[in-house]
Amino acid sequence: MKTVVINASPRRKWNTAQIMKEAAKGAESVGAEVEYIDLYKLDLHGCMSCLICKKADNERCKCYWKDELSPLIERILDADTLLIGSPIYFNEPTSHYRALMERLIFCILSYDGFGSYFEGKVNVGLFFTMNAPEDYYETMMEDYLQSSSQVFGMLNGEVKIYPVFNTLQVNDYSKYAMGAFDEEDKKLSREKRFPVDLDAAFKIGAELSK
Ligand SMILES: Cc1cc2nc3c(=O)[nH]c(=O)nc-3n(C[C@H](O)[C@H](O)[C@H](O)COP(=O)(O)O)c2cc1C
Repeated sequence: MKTVVINASPRRKWNTAQIMKEAAKGAESVGAEVEYIDLYKLDLHGCMSCLICKKADNERCKCYWKDELSPLIERILDADTLLIGSPIYFNEPTSHYRALMERLIFCILSYDGFGSYFEGKVNVGLFFTMNAPEDYYETMMEDYLQSSSQVFGMLNGEVKIYPVFNTLQVNDYSKYAMGAFDEEDKKLSREKRFPVDLDAAFKIGAELSK
């Protein structure tokens, strides 16, 4: 079993990365072979609309754009599980998450009937980390993230979403102009809530990689 784990945060050691490393450990705990990728290390674009993947005689389920993302897309389509973590930027996942999603899903999307050309099955776990507390997420983000994540259903597996609320954005808020945040509340959330999220990430990584 192969699991591809992707950190779609530009920060390689912060909230999203820590969540994804736990998810990776969960996948390893059930014997999956894990590949961990920091997406921001790759030179990539979103879909360039070259439409080579839609040419009549071309092989399906392949992104033909020549950059570092296309080989990763091949490995994802060859895997059993895909786990992606992204911070929320302006109520949405990051631009790199979006670039991966556009390229991965467009090359398996059929323009002959709007189904999926993909005949395999890849389970997908999506982890979104954010400053927002749970109630703000539920009112402002949940519906959009649920519906925009549905495209991953084209990989024919289970799609699971896990939100991580009220993250610690910096270690020392007193050194930043971040007066809108309550440092004590952030630290409390880090101490009490974040370990629960790490544990959940481990379990989801394991469950989806079985
Ligand atoms: C450009 C930018 C935009 C952000 N927009 C939001 C937002 O709309 N909602 C939110 O809850 N958090 C927002 N955040 C906060 C991050 O989502 C949050 O701190 C996240 O956990 C960071 O993940 P990381 O530690 O892995 O980088 C934003 C952060 C940045 C840098």
